Amino acid sequence: MTQPHKDSASAASILVTGGCGFIGSNFVLDWLENVGTPVVNLDSLTYAGNPENLASVSGDPRYTFIYGDLNDSELLATIFRDHHPRAVVHFAAESHVDRSILGPDAFLRANIDGTFRLLQQARAFHQSLEGFDREHFRFLHVSTDEVYGTLTPTDPPFSETTAYAPNSPYAASKAASDMLVRAWHHTYGLPTLITNCSNNYGPLQFPEKLIPLTISNALAGKPLPVYGDGQQVRDWLYVRDHCSAIRAVLSLGRLGETYNIGGNNQRANLDVVNTLCALLDELKSGPKPYAEQIAFVKDRPGHDRRYAIDARKIQSELNWYPAETFETGLRSTVQWYLDNAPWIESVTSGAYQNWVQQNYAGRGKAARSEVSA
Ligand code: NAD
Ligand code: DAU
Repeated sequence: MTQPHKDSASAASILVTGGCGFIGSNFVLDWLENVGTPVVNLDSLTYAGNPENLASVSGDPRYTFIYGDLNDSELLATIFRDHHPRAVVHFAAESHVDRSILGPDAFLRANIDGTFRLLQQARAFHQSLEGFDREHFRFLHVSTDEVYGTLTPTDPPFSETTAYAPNSPYAASKAASDMLVRAWHHTYGLPTLITNCSNNYGPLQFPEKLIPLTISNALAGKPLPVYGDGQQVRDWLYVRDHCSAIRAVLSLGRLGETYNIGGNNQRANLDVVNTLCALLDELKSGPKPYAEQIAFVKDRPGHDRRYAIDARKIQSELNWYPAETFETGLRSTVQWYLDNAPWIESVTSGAYQNWVQQNYAGRGKAARSEVSA
């Protein structure tokens, strides 16, 4: 049995997994700014994990970094025993759809096996708690709208009761992890919460995803690859708004519930790329308009046509609303990438170049039927 925690819940630490990735690092910064209690960050530093993202807090006594993998159960047990977290916020995952198509194994290992092992250790820890600590412990699983599959242009947005219909290996692995979390709540009484969020954008996003890739390629004078006809729709949310939503769910969410998170910003990919080009023309004009670099390439296999989130549950139950519009969020994101060129250089090293070669070399140009579809 672990010792009852001496601190009050407000001073106890939270365990964040995947805190060196895009959303995780924004969340750690956001948490230390807005809540201020200690954060323990477990991350295995895959290609997507960059400790430099948290350089500004590396000397902060409230921040502890632990290098390690979700699948190391012994390490997980030690972390729970030593840090006695009051909550787990689980971001760690393989997150890029194109990578899941080219190599699904890593997705099953991290997203399914990794979540299973974390749930097992969280469950053992929770069962060892008593009183206040047991009652207030939370396991928040960060998931995605992709578990719901794809929408036609006229379908209503995904709600919390939309049936799961994942289409990519990534989405399937996240759907499986959501189901494990659900089962650990119903069977073992683990106090879980699940969030399913739409596409995030903002500072510190690895430039393999559409928005940072477009900015980084535009500035480097490279083609801006648009898959298929570019009319696929995503529902964009500024990353710090996702962080505030997670804080709201963690403190007020009902146990065992799912909360969809989105900013009601549906945009076709081609419109997003054109908007980015226009912002870059304004903020750092090049020799010619950036839009001239747009290149339609072969579509992603099984490409989901449209995502859209119905966020009414989190709005009405938890009074959460995003602070940024797509226009303000995108402008500050472009400005962040312009101000942080060394960050882009540091993350687009050798391994990144190999990925670019693997993902884009075989695509060639989009077939005429894809572009005019
Ligand atoms: P990311 O790829 O930028 O970061 C993932 C982090 O997890 C990295 O730091 C990586 O090193 C770490 N990690 C991966 N496997 C690990 C393992 N086995 N053990 C320990 N650490 C491991 O991802 P992201 O975009 O920040 O997404 C974070 C979470 O949010 C994911 O669960 C993703 O499914 C979910 N999500 C992302 C978005 C989005 O638009 N990016 C939207 C909704 C939900
Ligand atoms: O919806 C939430 C999901 O959003 C998260 O769960 C994922 O972790 C995250 O990666 C993101 O998935 P997407 O596949 O939607 O994001 P991505 O940035 O890879 O692609 C966005 C859209 O842009 C998608 O329709 C594919 C398209 N695209 C992407 C790239 C990388 C292009 O047209 N060209 C590209 O080069």
